[in-house]
Amino acid sequence: METVLTGITTTGVPHIGNYVGAIRPTVIASRDKSVKSYYFVADYHSLIKSSDPDRLARSTLEVAASWLAAGLDPDCVFYRQSDIPEIMELTWVLTCMTAKGLMNRAHAYKAAVAENEARRNRDPDKAITMGLYSYPILMAADILMFKAHKVPVGRDQIQHVEMARDIAGRFNHHFGETFVLPEAVVGENTAVLPGLDGRKMSKSYANTIPLFAPEKRLRKLIMRIKTNSQEPGEPKDPDTSALYAIYRAFCTDGEAAAIRERYRAGIAWGEMKKVLFEYLNDQLKGPRAEYERLMDAPDYVEGVLCRGAERAREVSVPYMDEIRRAVGFRKLG
Ligand code: TRP
Repeated sequence: METVLTGITTTGVPHIGNYVGAIRPTVIASRDKSVKSYYFVADYHSLIKSSDPDRLARSTLEVAASWLAAGLDPDCVFYRQSDIPEIMELTWVLTCMTAKGLMNRAHAYKAAVAENEARRNRDPDKAITMGLYSYPILMAADILMFKAHKVPVGRDQIQHVEMARDIAGRFNHHFGETFVLPEAVVGENTAVLPGLDGRKMSKSYANTIPLFAPEKRLRKLIMRIKTNSQEPGEPKDPDTSALYAIYRAFCTDGEAAAIRERYRAGIAWGEMKKVLFEYLNDQLKGPRAEYERLMDAPDYVEGVLCRGAERAREVSVPYMDEIRRAVGFRKLG
């Protein structure tokens, strides 16, 4: 049976762009019974960017609650990375198998160096931690630990999966066939949603609609979405309209056709905003209530993650033993 694995970084409450681009496809995939799936909250990775323990902890809860509320199949193995100490141990083993030159080529590290150079810092490595530098090795350990064949990721992560493959290949060459060589899978039709200002919805543009925004706030945000100055009654182009793009990411083909007809007939922007709000609110109110319930029940979420970790460790503990023996950590005599 094929194994699919992906990590979720803890960047706080997701927005509807994250939902459409990453959460929804993963939730659907998690229900596929013909593969074995592993999903985890990548909190070791989050530590790279965090020095605020309360925020890190809060983020873990928010992310876990969001994915569960969005419908992640509770039957798949869903765990918190830092509950699996074998990942850390494997990271060191892999670190010793990783060419430093390979890490020099990692995008995230190169971008950080480029920024230092652009700012004319004397030290090109200024403020770059070994965590950021070795990030791809930790990610390789995540993937190799569970013998993942397929790793669904965004485009920016393809390089990391390829590095995991390189590292696994090198290990297998030195110590014998031990690891499965993983492959990145990039979703083809993952829509990019426009944000409130029409640019791509992104935290860094501060133009997002949080996935579980309370009803009142959701309405307010939708009313703020940028439109042009066309009057009610004037025919409008759905394909340049952020309101339509967002609606389209949630609706059926039939509903899309009906709304396109209303654009042609000159629907007023105010009316379209109302339509969009009601449509989104209807779809999101169930998951939103579940999210709120989970945020008020951190013990419950903790339980889900702990059970996930137990199941994950049924694989990682014996496999790590094998890896230890393969590299020569053995009983003497
Ligand atoms: N680095 C990934 C991201 O930023 C998250 C991640 C961590 C991951 N470990 C992983 C993804 C292992 C796939 C497999 O999105």
